Amino acid sequence: MFTKKILIISNIIFVVIISILVYILLFMGTEMVKLPDDTRIVVKYEPDLRDLVLNEMRDYLEVMNEIQQGLAENNPDKIVKAATRQGQISLEATPIRLLKLSPLACKQMGFRGHDIFQSIADSARVNFSKETTINQLAELTNNCIVCHRTYKVEAQ
Ligand code: HEC
Repeated sequence: MFTKKILIISNIIFVVIISILVYILLFMGTEMVKLPDDTRIVVKYEPDLRDLVLNEMRDYLEVMNEIQQGLAENNPDKIVKAATRQGQISLEATPIRLLKLSPLACKQMGFRGHDIFQSIADSARVNFSKETTINQLAELTNNCIVCHRTYKVEAQ
């Protein structure tokens, strides 16, 4: 009789402990995430402009990857082809609406990025040197980082 009671009590304790563990595992996890302070300036674009900007951003990453592949393969043609896609041509295709809604410093960093893509293409075409391309890539990446630290985009 006594051992049966102990058995029942220990089973209850067991179930309670398991339930607490399951609860912690399933529901407490997300609360442990500490978000970094976000002091970025919000830039508001209409939904189509926001999509356009983010689409272009993803292409920047692809172009940079193709440039890196070109470096690894010692293939300047690949670098010229990739970097040209986001160089002067892309800058000229920027919609006026986007320029109107972007703060000055944001525009300048946007222009600077296209300028560096264009110089990567020009240098690789005229006088290819891996060191030059790598230095230009570092300058380009720094421009991406500064802008990402400063701005975020929301649809208006
Ligand atoms: C003129 C400012 C600016 C420059 C320069 C810039 N970005 Fe961005 N990028 C942004 C903003 C703003 C966002 C949106 C971030 C947010 O809202 O949280 C973004 C988002 C992105 C995203 C996410 C896209 C998505 O679909 O959500 C990628 C990838 C990205 N940038 C890559 C790059 C790369 C690579 C470079 C450099 C070659 C670069 N960006 C240069 C401002 C910039």
